Amino acid sequence: MTLPIAGKPAAAKGPVPQGEALLRGIERLRKELDAVILAHYYQDAEIQEIANFVGDSLQLSQQAAATSAKVIVFCGVHFMAETAKILNPDKQVLLPDLDAGCSLSDRCPPEQFARWLEQYPGHKVVSYINCSAGVKALSDVICTSSNAEKVVQSFPAGTPIVFAPDRHLGAWVGKKTGRELVLWPGFCIVHEQFTERQLTKLKVRHPQAKLIAHPECDESVLAMADYVGSTRGLLEYVKSSPAKSFIVATEVGILHLMQKARPDAELIPAPPSSGCNCAICPYMRLNSLEKVYLCMRDRAPEITLPEDLRRRALEPVRRMLELSATGRP
Ligand code: 13P
Ligand code: SF4
Repeated sequence: MTLPIAGKPAAAKGPVPQGEALLRGIERLRKELDAVILAHYYQDAEIQEIANFVGDSLQLSQQAAATSAKVIVFCGVHFMAETAKILNPDKQVLLPDLDAGCSLSDRCPPEQFARWLEQYPGHKVVSYINCSAGVKALSDVICTSSNAEKVVQSFPAGTPIVFAPDRHLGAWVGKKTGRELVLWPGFCIVHEQFTERQLTKLKVRHPQAKLIAHPECDESVLAMADYVGSTRGLLEYVKSSPAKSFIVATEVGILHLMQKARPDAELIPAPPSSGCNCAICPYMRLNSLEKVYLCMRDRAPEITLPEDLRRRALEPVRRMLELSATGRP
């Protein structure tokens, strides 16, 4: 049976298949287009299941840089797909939902960032990959949550550095490296919701559980964590830890592969300040299997960039990839 997607006008090219037929349709289009499907850990489990590769922001940009596929279907958010385009001007990059933004990227417009930077002449600019191509083009080097320490340490001690757009990741990296970083005051709306108060209550209820947290969380949360790391880091920690119970302070999408890797472990999603079990990124979750199918069928929405901007954004992304090429980030 086929049904139109709720809330969307029926597509001119016919309705979207459902169930098994939808999966077969995606498979057929993947072959026809010579497409690779890349998915972030925060995607719905059913998207992670059909992806060629699931990873964190660094792994996904490395995959995008290395792929020989003609089309990249990026199941993540806009800045991720845009990074894939920066690296692949000759490939078609599709994003299932063009509205899949990011609070960090959206609240750091390039024009405002350029004016802010004028206050810090002579500073090196390290930008978290969660930013637009315009902000990347104003940066010396890009980093992700898994290589931020290494990227900051690539500058000689004493180098004045500004870090944007996540103030929590910036503060954490500053602490780890002993560097004083000037921070752009951005934050992630998902990780900002975890509080020391809620997590303390949860720790009391689960005293044996290890608390693991993403560095986009507030400093007070990171201070009480047993481990702080990128989504891949959190997954690896759970895989290799002898512990049987974990409180996970990041978007709940990561629990899918964590539970698969550790079916014996109890995974407790950290509650946001509201107390609900719903640490879900509203941008990431705009994508759906139906939209994955549609973007391949219609070859849209497509990520495009002015060539001059792409070139300027490419250098800092390349620098990051070079710095991450040797050993683990
Ligand atoms: P990582 O993929 O680097 O863990 O970052 C998580 C995130 O919030 C991506 O938007
Ligand atoms: Fe942006 Fe936070 Fe969503 Fe990641 S989880 S895409 S940082 S809003």
